[in-house]
Amino acid sequence: MSILVTGGTGYIGSHTVVELINNKYKDIIIMDNLCNSSEGVIDKIEKITGVRCKFYNADIRDEKALDKIFSENKIEAVIHFAGLKAVGESVKKPLEYYDNNVGGTIKLLQAMKKHECKKIVFSSSATVYGDPGTPKYVEEMGRGIASSPYGETKAVIEGILESLYKAEPDWIISILRYFNPIGAHKSGLLGEDPKGIPNNLMPYIQKVAIGELKEVSVYGDDYDTKDGTGERDYIHVVDLANGHVKALEKLNKPGIYIHNLGTGNSYSVLEIIKAFERVNNVKVNYKIAPRRPGDLSKFYADPTKAKKELGWEATNRHRRYGER
Ligand code: NAD
Ligand code: UFG
Repeated sequence: MSILVTGGTGYIGSHTVVELINNKYKDIIIMDNLCNSSEGVIDKIEKITGVRCKFYNADIRDEKALDKIFSENKIEAVIHFAGLKAVGESVKKPLEYYDNNVGGTIKLLQAMKKHECKKIVFSSSATVYGDPGTPKYVEEMGRGIASSPYGETKAVIEGILESLYKAEPDWIISILRYFNPIGAHKSGLLGEDPKGIPNNLMPYIQKVAIGELKEVSVYGDDYDTKDGTGERDYIHVVDLANGHVKALEKLNKPGIYIHNLGTGNSYSVLEIIKAFERVNNVKVNYKIAPRRPGDLSKFYADPTKAKKELGWEATNRHRRYGER
């Protein structure tokens, strides 16, 4: 039996494939249209794990391709990462985001149903909480109004999965709400390398550190936080990847399950910049800039439910040997 990983050559998907192989899942099929990643990642995964994954260069909106993948393989479960994720771009191109993320997920679910594969783990986001008025996000709070079309696509997909489960209660549906994924594989072979100018803090810092960009704009230093800059729950991508392995393992009864994947701690923008400087022994130039529209001052996960039900918690111990 195989696991299909959509978006498996992407940042979180590739790390998850490595952790799946490191556990008992050796038969992995990756499907990705390479719109934000490259096929070379398949070689890198093989270098790290010794396992060559079967790869389909295909779009999740392509019914024929999905039919071929499900016909050629006995797929037991799907981990669904494929999607567009740039918040700013989604404001300018909402139709593309709804078409790709929502439309693509519907096609995927239809193919799964047709081929009687009814177990899915879905990449959701803390953004679906909207602005609940408290920084600690607990699953029971439910969804709010997301701050971008990107965020809305995640909320809409969660709603579709809930409706599907109500109509067909033999599905096993795991919704994982990620907080802020950062970091890379300790081999140095996999990591986050967005095309163009990054939106997210950590890839931006990296590009400043290597001299590709001039300085980090710190969006606001007048928030009601420990040092006035925004606070987030940054989670190592390998910890996040392991959350998916646990969801596959532990969720075996039909149901719809929602879990936060975060550390339960928050760090400020300045703390992240200082930690990056200290660990890498480099200078990261920054300037204080106006607040970024749509940003919240502070939020972090309550990770209790994932610990209790999945036996998962973030360890943040994925450093290279010798690092402080
Ligand atoms: P990523 O862009 O690195 O990976 C997504 C992959 O999906 C890419 O390889 C891309 O080529 C592929 N893809 C996109 N549309 C596709 C389509 N129509 N058909 C086939 N492949 C397609 O992003 P990531 O950071 O690894 O994110 C993975 C998932 O997690 C996404 O759904 C994202 O929305 C979600 N997520 C990410 C974050 C984050 O901060 N990185 C936070 C919360 C949720
Ligand atoms: N920030 C800066 N300068 C930058 C980039 C970011 O100061 O150049 C600050 C932001 O203001 C915020 C923090 O760094 O306080 C983190 O910002 P990111 O853009 O890295 O992440 P967000 O919390 O805004 O959003 C991310 C993803 C969303 C996802 C959310 C929760 O981009 O898709 O985490 O998972 F929904």
